[in-house]
Amino acid sequence: MINVGLIGTGRIGQVHAANIARNRQAYLRVICDARPEAGKTLACKYDTAFTAAPQEVIQDKSIDAVFICTPAHSHIDLMEAALATGKYVFCEKPLDENLEKAQRFVTTHSDFVARVMVGFHRRFDDSHQKLRKKVESGALGSIEQIIINSRDPRLDSYEILRGTGGIFRDMMMHDIDQASILTRESFVGVVARGACFVDPVFAKNGDFDTATATFWTQSDATCTIFNSRRSLFGFEQTIEVFASGGTAVVRATPATSFSIRDEAGEHIDGPKGHFFERYRDAYNAECCAFLEAIESGAPFPVSANDGLRALALADAADRSARLGQWVAL
Ligand SMILES: NC(=O)c1ccc[n+]([C@@H]2O[C@H](COP(=O)([O-])OP(=O)(O)OC[C@H]3O[C@@H](n4cnc5c(N)ncnc54)[C@H](O)[C@@H]3O)[C@@H](O)[C@H]2O)c1
Repeated sequence: MINVGLIGTGRIGQVHAANIARNRQAYLRVICDARPEAGKTLACKYDTAFTAAPQEVIQDKSIDAVFICTPAHSHIDLMEAALATGKYVFCEKPLDENLEKAQRFVTTHSDFVARVMVGFHRRFDDSHQKLRKKVESGALGSIEQIIINSRDPRLDSYEILRGTGGIFRDMMMHDIDQASILTRESFVGVVARGACFVDPVFAKNGDFDTATATFWTQSDATCTIFNSRRSLFGFEQTIEVFASGGTAVVRATPATSFSIRDEAGEHIDGPKGHFFERYRDAYNAECCAFLEAIESGAPFPVSANDGLRALALADAADRSARLGQWVAL
């Protein structure tokens, strides 16, 4: 049995808590949140201990693994403390909001970063796995263009986005991770634009709510990613890999297959909820993969270096958008 502590009980912490609690390999021993009202409710739900002090989780010798689900700027300090006490760490993306700090973390602790898994849940989604296998099999030939649309349905409150490092490090990071595992070549440049169409709160906070980035490789294959914090049609995430031998597509998953046809045309149900609903199974598979790797001693399927690569690419896209010029990688 793997004893688990979870730090941070906000949007994503609640998803992981549910998956840990129902996993037979794990025991959710303690839940921690700096805001007791949030953490205590969740601890009560899973009948487990609560603390408002992360150090208590980290110093607890009975805990084998820690899930870090706090805002980006706290990830590295918490990881360093947990690794120093010999724990395994599941850390939500991004590794940090600051690239230099993340680089220092990975190089300074090269001996034990293998104990870290980073949260890129889409890698555990069935459709995305099929796409990746198809590309890796060579059946599609060589990739020429990748097009990714990623749009959130709405913005409930800017507060939850404060401290995420901005749209490129927060939202586009998942798309960047997908793109970089699909292309076998590294990206050598990026040009990006950011805009504020959805809510002036983004501009006030020096962030964008809408972003586009095109990355390219040495052989001129491109990946273009479109992000928006607003999609009236619902949560939309599609990916198209256009290659010399065909095109592979993952579409937004509809909530149901219901549709009505009338004189005005066809009306179909919108895509499934938000990312929690769309990727429910993927989050659970991600949690299982982390625990199974601890149990078996196998390397984690997503490494700290994967997190660092995605952060470096997101950081370059952010710089390109702010400078208004392309950035070499
Ligand atoms: N993989 C995904 O799909 C996904 C989805 C959402 C968020 N995230 C990532 O997860 C992280 C958290 O995001 P969120 O949306 O859940 O944030 P959130 O604001 O909803 O929750 C964060 C929680 O952490 C607590 N907290 C903050 N600092 C703390 C500290 N030092 N010690 C203990 N508790 C602390 C806060 O009180 C809050 O309850 C971010 O890095 C974000 O990018 C990933």
